[in-house]
Amino acid sequence: MIITFQVNGERHELDVDADMPVLWVLRDVLGLTGTKFGCGVAACGACTVHVDGRAVRTCLLPVSAVAGTSITTIEGLDPEHAHPLQKAWVEHQVPQCGYCQSGMIMAAAALLREHPQPSDDEIDRNMTNICRCGTYQRVRLAIHTAARDAS
Ligand code: FES
Ligand code: FES
Repeated sequence: MIITFQVNGERHELDVDADMPVLWVLRDVLGLTGTKFGCGVAACGACTVHVDGRAVRTCLLPVSAVAGTSITTIEGLDPEHAHPLQKAWVEHQVPQCGYCQSGMIMAAAALLREHPQPSDDEIDRNMTNICRCGTYQRVRLAIHTAARDAS
């Protein structure tokens, strides 16, 4: 099946199996390996990207579902890799092993779009990504810092 969509502002027209998960297309076809495979059952959030501005988990999402959409991955979040969240992540040294962190940042970016100054409760309710290293406190701190710096 020929699928057309945008990734990080670039148009792609790909001949791929319609059922192939978007995560596979991003990593194996387009070489965008910043987005990670964790659980494979849409539970952990490691595979989170933005589809038309919304945070979406891509490990089970068939590529046919994103035809005509605009996808942003961690590689495209900011051209200089200097998004307020990325700066706050560095400031607070958020990652431990790092595996979950691109998904965390993409989920946080979607959260800030909807709640520019989120409360702790809004962060806890919206950030359902799993971190096996337990970086949740620093994630929360960095989101508050990014929200403050972006205002
Ligand atoms: S790998 Fe997609 S949610 Fe865990
Ligand atoms: S930093 Fe290791 S899983 Fe989150």
